[in-house]
Amino acid sequence: MVPDRPRARDCCGGRTTLMHVRRSKRSADRRPFADIQDATRRHQAQHGCDAYAFEEGAALVELVTAHAPGRVLELGTALGFTACCLASAGPSIRVDTIERDPEHVVLARENIRAAGFDARIEVHRGDFVKVMSALEGSYDAAFFDGLEPKRDILLPLAELVRVGGVLVCGNLHLSRVSVRTLLAAEHAGTGRWRKIDAFEGGRTEVFRKLHAK
Ligand SMILES: C[S@@+](CC[C@H](N)C(=O)[O-])C[C@H]1O[C@@H](n2cnc3c(N)ncnc32)[C@H](O)[C@@H]1O
Repeated sequence: MVPDRPRARDCCGGRTTLMHVRRSKRSADRRPFADIQDATRRHQAQHGCDAYAFEEGAALVELVTAHAPGRVLELGTALGFTACCLASAGPSIRVDTIERDPEHVVLARENIRAAGFDARIEVHRGDFVKVMSALEGSYDAAFFDGLEPKRDILLPLAELVRVGGVLVCGNLHLSRVSVRTLLAAEHAGTGRWRKIDAFEGGRTEVFRKLHAK
């Protein structure tokens, strides 16, 4: 977010949805990796950079736990907060996460090592599109949290998700109208993708890939 990313308590205009109630009752830890999330917020405030921490770490952990993925791809590491959330959702999960800011990469690797996930999270330094083009195989889950969701990033990301896998797309409020249209057409309207969940007050949506083409 990135400007205007809502705090969890502000989601849905302050209303608590049934989905949120169910989640909060099931979530063992409502603020996983709170130390890294807080450090990310401090870093962002101090540097005025793009490292806006995701607000609903617990919902992300719960979602990934439910889908039990083996391989997860994240776009937008910042200081490693959500990468740790993703890896914590299961002992065999391996996360590839991409970040172009060299300072964020250094801090993320430190945080990931301190959290004990350095054997299961790989931080790739570079631009999303360039790094994605060099990745091999498909992913069970992909999480976009890299500022504005753009066509040239989302489409290759979506291709890396296996059939039956999930695509979690954040920051939808930053997309231009054409990108929203693209998402509707590419990810939901064609029958290839079905929207299965949403959080951050609808600014993050979750899609399952139903078939290859
Ligand atoms: C919203 S922050 C990610 C927050 C992180 N997921 C968390 O919750 O802590 C977005 C990050 O994506 C990085 N980023 C933005 N555009 C990028 C691009 N095209 N390639 C690589 N990294 C990018 C920024 O440097 C920033 O650290």
